[in-house]
Amino acid sequence: MVASALFVAAVLFVTATSGALERQRVAFRHRRTVSGLFEDDFFPETATRHYTRDDCEPADPLNTLTDRLNTLLNSSGPGYVLPLCPGVQYFIQAPILFAAPDQEISTVGYPTGDDRAVLVVAGPVANGQGHTTAVDGTCQNCSGVKLRNIQINGTRAGAPPTSGGANIEMGGSNSGQLIEYVRSFDPRSWSCLHISEGALSCNNVTVQNNDIGPCGSDAFQEWADGISVSCMNSLVRNNTVNNPTDGGIVLFGSPGTVVENNTIWVETMTLLGGINMVDYDPWSGNYTNTIVRNNIIRGGFATDPAETGESKGVNADDAIIKIGIAIGPRTWFGDRYFNNVSQSGTVLDNHLTGAFGYGVAISSASDFTVQGNILVGNTSFIGSTGPNCSTTDITPQPAPFVEDQSTVQSSNIQSGFQLIPDGNSLTCIIPPSGGDFWPFGGNPSATQSSPTSSGSPTSTSSGSGALSHGGLSGGGKAGIAIGVILGVAAIAAATYFIRNWAVQRARASGRY
Ligand SMILES: *[C@@H]1O[C@H](CO)[C@@H](O)[C@H](O)[C@H]1NC(C)=O
Ligand SMILES: *[C@@H]1O[C@H](CO)[C@@H](O)[C@H](O)[C@H]1NC(C)=O
Ligand SMILES: *[C@@H]1O[C@H](CO)[C@@H](O)[C@H](O)[C@H]1NC(C)=O
Ligand SMILES: *[C@@H]1O[C@H](CO)[C@@H](O)[C@H](O)[C@H]1NC(C)=O
Ligand SMILES: *[C@@H]1O[C@H](CO)[C@@H](O)[C@H](O)[C@H]1NC(C)=O
Ligand SMILES: *[C@@H]1O[C@H](CO)[C@@H](O)[C@H](O)[C@H]1NC(C)=O
Ligand SMILES: *[C@@H]1O[C@H](CO)[C@@H](O)[C@H](O)[C@H]1NC(C)=O
Ligand SMILES: *[C@@H]1O[C@H](CO)[C@@H](O)[C@H](O)[C@H]1NC(C)=O
Ligand SMILES: *[C@@H]1O[C@H](CO)[C@@H](O)[C@H](O)[C@H]1NC(C)=O
Ligand SMILES: *[C@@H]1O[C@H](CO)[C@@H](O)[C@H](O)[C@H]1NC(C)=O
Repeated sequence: MVASALFVAAVLFVTATSGALERQRVAFRHRRTVSGLFEDDFFPETATRHYTRDDCEPADPLNTLTDRLNTLLNSSGPGYVLPLCPGVQYFIQAPILFAAPDQEISTVGYPTGDDRAVLVVAGPVANGQGHTTAVDGTCQNCSGVKLRNIQINGTRAGAPPTSGGANIEMGGSNSGQLIEYVRSFDPRSWSCLHISEGALSCNNVTVQNNDIGPCGSDAFQEWADGISVSCMNSLVRNNTVNNPTDGGIVLFGSPGTVVENNTIWVETMTLLGGINMVDYDPWSGNYTNTIVRNNIIRGGFATDPAETGESKGVNADDAIIKIGIAIGPRTWFGDRYFNNVSQSGTVLDNHLTGAFGYGVAISSASDFTVQGNILVGNTSFIGSTGPNCSTTDITPQPAPFVEDQSTVQSSNIQSGFQLIPDGNSLTCIIPPSGGDFWPFGGNPSATQSSPTSSGSPTSTSSGSGALSHGGLSGGGKAGIAIGVILGVAAIAAATYFIRNWAVQRARASGRY
């Protein structure tokens, strides 16, 4: 306490005498121990950026940066904290690898805003291959590692996706890892943050207070997840996921994992699924004690101001969430996993608002509990049968709660679900293009911009099962218009054979 007071006095003295603190070269040797003092009360944000200090690893010289960071980690042993400098961007050429138990990578002083150090993914990419991952904590000896208070800029910048790992790859056969106050956005590959399963032994990873997104593009198969979790007994809470495009939070089984109090929302891009419990691999659909509760999922809202008497408006990007919460492999993959199901998960008290195709969709599940999920504020359920919807299945009308009862067993499901005859590949629906269909209501602070997509769709990406989020029913076929009827039938019929051929090719190339 005395030391702190002296420190403050010293700082105030420096401030008073220099009058231009941000230009001073001040070295704070023990800054970590007084990090609490570095909140905005004492320093205006701009003043904290330009210190040179000797207790954080500088980005310069750039040509040795990646090796220096990796050497610090692989030569410093368990518990080592790699201190990154506030306000500094680190242009790395390869992943930074955790190398021993309980290591930490963080920004000195643990800032939570723009002052967090930025790891910028800057290694080479060619022919859809190359550098995609900024930080990797999946080593054989990576239990207890922590990634805290930094930012990851994946720098896809509108390019097609690159094969490889997520911006952040954690988990593996480890336990007790922590990822918090991390901002991760614009990954080159398939996810902003992936916790992998290891030998199905990943355990107890905590993912909290992160701000994630945008991730991917909503162009066909250029999607990316917000948070992808394939680890048992983990906790994913209090994160914000803005403008993901594949799944906002994707649970690959992950028995025992709790996902609570997260906010997922779209603004400029259509998202396939808000929270996904659809992946059969790699946990064989085991969602035992996997609990998704008290999350807020916000579909698109009208972007024009309401005129008098109007209850719906247009959305400049036609952005919706196709499925708010998706349960069961069939909702996503059609019959690719035959009669396998998502088993024994629990989905409670989630709130949905804004524009969706379907709010909660269940198809091919057993022993699930789905209760207390509600619509709040204004909502719309919109979309029409897309060109890749099946011709043989009946694509259900957009609706808040849909269940294919013929493939759901032994489940405890809240009232109000509409029964549908076919719950296959529901992400084949497409949002209406234009029109007054989006509700008014707005979104949480809309500060982050999203990348624009460009370039041709290429098939890409490896990584784990999320790539397989194809959203195709396994046959390109004409659709019947539902919801907002767009009258595509004639064109669809004409292009049916061409598309069918394209899909078969895509499948043959291993993309699905
Ligand atoms: C540590 O990292 C450096 C830089 O990447 C590398 O050259 C070295 O081989 C690594 N050492 C070990 C023991 O992994
Ligand atoms: C794991 O870390 C411990 C502590 O540093 C070390 O003794 C052990 O050799 C490491 N094991 C492997 C497989 O790297
Ligand atoms: C991410 O990095 C790229 C390359 O340096 C830069 O152009 C882009 O502005 C950065 N994005 C953000 C949001 O800082
Ligand atoms: C889970 O990991 C956290 C560290 O993130 C640790 O504090 C906690 O004790 C672990 N829980 C169990 C049951 O191992
Ligand atoms: C959740 O985030 C809010 C800020 O968005 C913060 O005030 C609160 O402490 C966080 N909760 C936990 C449990 O970390
Ligand atoms: C839940 O999330 C909201 C919104 O981010 C936050 O304000 C609140 O503090 C969180 N609650 C807990 C218990 O963390
Ligand atoms: C699902 O996972 C739990 C926790 O690991 C395990 O106890 C249970 O046996 C698994 N169930 C099945 C059907 O594999
Ligand atoms: C589950 O899927 C596997 C392939 O992933 C398949 O071999 C098996 O027959 C399926 N089981 C059922 C019951 O459909
Ligand atoms: C719902 O929409 C109406 C306009 O139709 C608007 O006045 C109202 O504020 C909206 N409600 C919420 C919770 O945003
Ligand atoms: C339908 O699938 C084809 C590839 O088979 C793809 O090029 C096209 O973009 C898809 N259309 C939609 C609306 O998803």
